[in-house]
Amino acid sequence: MQSDLSKHASTNTASSTRINDQIDFPECARELIHSGWSINKLPIALQAHFWDALDLYANVGSDVKSEFSFPDHTDGFLPFGMEYAKATHQPDLCERYCYWHKDRRRHEAHAFSGSEFYRAICGYESGISEVAQGVLDSICGFFNVSDPVDIRNSSYIQLCAYHKPPRRPDREYLQNRHEDGHLLSIIKGNRDGLVIFPRGERLVVRLADDEMIVITGSLLTLLSDNRIPYMDHAVTNPCVPVARLSIVYFVIPDLTRKYTSFMNCKQLDLVAVANESHQAFGNNPFSAAA
Ligand SMILES: [Fe+2]
Repeated sequence: MQSDLSKHASTNTASSTRINDQIDFPECARELIHSGWSINKLPIALQAHFWDALDLYANVGSDVKSEFSFPDHTDGFLPFGMEYAKATHQPDLCERYCYWHKDRRRHEAHAFSGSEFYRAICGYESGISEVAQGVLDSICGFFNVSDPVDIRNSSYIQLCAYHKPPRRPDREYLQNRHEDGHLLSIIKGNRDGLVIFPRGERLVVRLADDEMIVITGSLLTLLSDNRIPYMDHAVTNPCVPVARLSIVYFVIPDLTRKYTSFMNCKQLDLVAVANESHQAFGNNPFSAAA
C-alpha cells in the first residue's frame, strides 16, 4: 500500500511543472551571477505551505520538540542558542527546526511525522527543492556545464523562530553577519528583519507576502572560479519586541561525487569546504551525519 508520505510526494511531483512555470529561472540566474541576490515570487502552492507551517509551528509542544530532536544530524527541533554565526559567544537568538528530505524514512518511526506541521514542511521542501534545482540548472547553463548538480538529498530546510523574549539590548543582530557556505539559500520570512550586504553595503530586504529572496553562498563562488559573489547577510534586532519566523532552504550539492570548477576545470574538494562551513555554525560535519 502506498504510504501517506509517498502519496504526498506524488502529488507534489505532479504539481512541479506548475511551480516551475512561476519562476523566471534565466533572469534569476543572471541576477545571482551578477550580484548574488534575486527576489522572486514564491509559487502559490508554496505560499500555502509556508503560511500553514508558520501557523502550525505555534501548536508544537515542548514535549514533541524534545522527542523529535537530533542535534547530531542537525535535524528536528534544535534548542535555542545551539547555532552561531562564527562567534561562539554570540549565538543566534532563535529556535530551529530542520528537515532533511533524505531522512524522511527515519522520521516515520516517530508519531510527529504524521502531524500537520511536519506535512506542511514536507510540502514546502518538495516545491522549494524543485525551484532550487531550476535556479541551479540555469546557472550551470550560463557556464555551459552540462553535468547536473543534484541537490535534493543533500539540502535541508531550516525554520528559524525568533521569539519576543528574550531580547538582548547588547546585540545589533539576532543573527550576526555571515554567509551560509552553501550553493544558494532561499529565504522567506513573515516580516522584515533580513539585511544583505551587496558589495559590502547594508541593504534592508523588503519582501511582499508572496515573495522570497535567493542569495548565493561561497560553495557557488568556489565552483564558479570566483565569478559569482557570495552574499553576506544578518537578522536585525528590532527596537520593538516582535516575533519573527522564517524558513530557509539551504542548497547543498550532492557531496558523494567529485566536482571541477565551472570555468577553469580545477579539481575541488567540496566536501572539506562544505564541512568546514557547516561546523563553523556549531553543526556536525555533513559527512558524519550522512
Ligand atoms: Fe544565513
